[in-house]
Amino acid sequence: MNRRPLGRSELVIEPLVLGGNVFGWTVDETNGFAILDAYAAAGFTAIDTAEGYPNWVPGNPAGMSETIIGKWLKARGNRDRMHIFTKVNSGKKPGGLKPDAIKAGIEASLKRLQTDYVDLYFSHWPDPEASHEETLEAYDGLIRAGKVRAIGASNYSAQMMADAQQTAVVKSLQRYEVTQPRYNLYDRAEFDALRPYLLENEVGAIVYYSLASGFLTGKYRSQDDLGQSPRGGGVGQYLNAKGLSILGALDQVAAELGATPAEVALAWLVAQTRVSAPIASASSVEQVGSLARGVRLTLSAEALDLLTDSGK
Ligand SMILES: NC(=O)c1ccc[n+]([C@@H]2O[C@H](COP(=O)([O-])OP(=O)(O)OC[C@H]3O[C@@H](n4cnc5c(N)ncnc54)[C@H](OP(=O)(O)O)[C@@H]3O)[C@@H](O)[C@H]2O)c1
Repeated sequence: MNRRPLGRSELVIEPLVLGGNVFGWTVDETNGFAILDAYAAAGFTAIDTAEGYPNWVPGNPAGMSETIIGKWLKARGNRDRMHIFTKVNSGKKPGGLKPDAIKAGIEASLKRLQTDYVDLYFSHWPDPEASHEETLEAYDGLIRAGKVRAIGASNYSAQMMADAQQTAVVKSLQRYEVTQPRYNLYDRAEFDALRPYLLENEVGAIVYYSLASGFLTGKYRSQDDLGQSPRGGGVGQYLNAKGLSILGALDQVAAELGATPAEVALAWLVAQTRVSAPIASASSVEQVGSLARGVRLTLSAEALDLLTDSGK
């Protein structure tokens, strides 16, 4: 498969990152192990999680996702073959990217993940109270200590990325090599605004909500369908003319290729300029198989144009 570098870092991955926000939410530990096994067996290595996942679930089991992934890494003895990405400042607390918060955050994440380093450490959300300089200095220390291999920023605008990079250059610190914005056939504005910065600066992008929380699988086509998953509530926003137009194009291309809408939606993402890899989660082993087929599917120029135009 077409392995891709993440920015100018030494990290190179297959173009599918497994989303970890389901672990401890729609996926328990046993099913989680089966999903992780299937993902690794399909030849992929990169898993995305965060210190806060899944903190929106009643009881707020923040850290459960990292804990399940850590138990799996330990049980399988495969830490050196996997790429683990996690994030700090999930709770968007003021000061969440100050040096003390970062130092405490990485220690807690490493403990839950049962490892002594993470491959990629993300600022989950910007922190208006922390300067880029103090945040990047803290990360630089973690990289020098061997606890983090490279850093990234999620939910940052192009201006924030450029400002942070300028600070890194002036202060001789490591820069953010990867960004993690929302991007899928329906939600394009955030990534489209970032792309010129990413192209000019050779920064990577792993993009989230690749399936629009499941909407792009085509299993939600009316209000009645929203009850199919605990995630249904977040999917209702896509049930409108634009969403249905995208589903129409996905159905057409999927029928032509003998694929599913989810697979075609992922194939479209993999083909977009400056997308290093989509991040997508699965709640079953069967879904992992579909994600794997999707990122290995090649779409014709006509199919790509049809899909792109369907969401305009
Ligand atoms: N940086 C950030 O701020 C941020 C924010 C959100 C997410 N993320 C990351 O991005 C990852 C992906 O986001 P996400 O999981 O929320 O959304 P997603 O990848 O767009 O949607 C995945 C969901 O769609 C359903 N699905 C997947 N494959 C399917 C198939 N073949 N057929 C039918 N249904 C299928 C599953 O849910 P059901 O089976 O339950 O329907 C699955 O959990 C997260 O895990 C997280 O790592 C990052």
